[in-house]
Amino acid sequence: MRAITWHGKKDVRVDTVPDPEIVNPRDAIIEISSTAICGSDLHLYDGVIPGMRTGDILGHEFMGEVVEVGTGNKKLRKGQRVVVPFVIACGSCFFCEKQQYSACDNSNPADKADISHAAYGHHISGFFGYSHLTGGYAGGQAEYVRVPYSDVGPVVVPEDLEDEEALFLSDILPTGWMAAENCEIEEGDTVAVWGCGPVGLFAIQSALLMGAAQVIAIDHYPNRLELARGLGARIVNYKNTDVYEALMEMTGGIGPDAAIDAVGMESHGFAPDNIYDYAKQTLMLQSDRAHALRQALYAVRKGGRVSVPGAYGGFVDKFPVGAFMQKGLTIRTGQTHVQKYIPRLLDMIREGRIDTTFLISHRLPLEEGPEGYRKFAFEQNETTKVVLKPGMTRSNGL
Ligand SMILES: NC(=O)c1ccc[n+]([C@@H]2O[C@H](COP(=O)([O-])OP(=O)(O)OC[C@H]3O[C@@H](n4cnc5c(N)ncnc54)[C@H](O)[C@@H]3O)[C@@H](O)[C@H]2O)c1
Ligand SMILES: [Zn+2]
Ligand SMILES: [Zn+2]
Repeated sequence: MRAITWHGKKDVRVDTVPDPEIVNPRDAIIEISSTAICGSDLHLYDGVIPGMRTGDILGHEFMGEVVEVGTGNKKLRKGQRVVVPFVIACGSCFFCEKQQYSACDNSNPADKADISHAAYGHHISGFFGYSHLTGGYAGGQAEYVRVPYSDVGPVVVPEDLEDEEALFLSDILPTGWMAAENCEIEEGDTVAVWGCGPVGLFAIQSALLMGAAQVIAIDHYPNRLELARGLGARIVNYKNTDVYEALMEMTGGIGPDAAIDAVGMESHGFAPDNIYDYAKQTLMLQSDRAHALRQALYAVRKGGRVSVPGAYGGFVDKFPVGAFMQKGLTIRTGQTHVQKYIPRLLDMIREGRIDTTFLISHRLPLEEGPEGYRKFAFEQNETTKVVLKPGMTRSNGL
């Protein structure tokens, strides 16, 4: 089959690789109809996540048709159309029972999880297409994928929904939703969101649905900021505005009640702390650039909540622990417990309460995946979300 594979920093290719096979009785094989490129994939593309190997198949946002089911799976049937969470979870360990699926103890086998154990003290769950830190599973930017624990993750998509309406249930929609939930929004709250990529945009939509009185979106790409404005957010372009001053002005000098860092470890910008982060990241003295997180901790009001869906991989210094402690802040974060959120969000999509298609900028055949990566990495203003379709033979005008 054809699949998008990782070959090093800024080098992804479409290769012919062996078709996946059932390995365990609870596996299923899915023929991919739609898959997307995520901001998390850019961290792999930029070479800032350890544990990647040449030839690894990328992709953790996908859906398609069940074409083979292992003998131990009593839930799925051939021919069903399913969307698959990026988190691989067994469904019955200590953590899965608590619906903390991204902490699943069984999906990232201990003999494969030594890097994540060393980095984090514990190993996290398996993810599709996301390095050997998370199990080294082949991803879904391919014609076919093997889905382990396929009686837990995949959810059947009702016929009345198009692929594009359901695809983002695999990751970014639940991620934006959990990010807003982690803000514990109260009536009248102002929520500030750093980053208007797909995760930030879904966090904005979710925060408004949860009753935020005001959402302020921060980025520097005019097109992405306009999408945020279209959802009902007020916008701040950090290229020409002092973010802290703007937030104080928009909140009567108090600061936002909650802040969402939907940027993560590759913060842009040339604030002094970010230049320092760039230098340390280049010299491999530090893994992450945390400017947006520092700014969020600094700007949020006393007693405020800081939610961090943005991905961080390792270590960062100049963490404003004083602001965190002295202002009595709460930080909540995590890789999304996708399985927990899909049923409710699926209902909300069907009821027309959530729009999932407004952010798609490109629809490309799988063969044009490397170009999709390039656009998403280097032309972020115009490229808000790339959907790849293995069944499409050539781009139809994007
Ligand atoms: N927690 C999870 O389970 C989970 C799931 C999916 C994605 N993520 C992470 O969420 C983050 C966002 O994902 P995405 O797909 O939206 O990525 P993206 O790269 O499309 O968007 C990031 C946005 O942040 C903006 N940005 C950069 N520096 C900024 C700054 N200093 N201030 C304000 N905005 C800034 C960029 O301009 C860009 O628009 C990534 O780190 C990704 O890895 C986490
Ligand atoms: Zn993703
Ligand atoms: Zn589990």
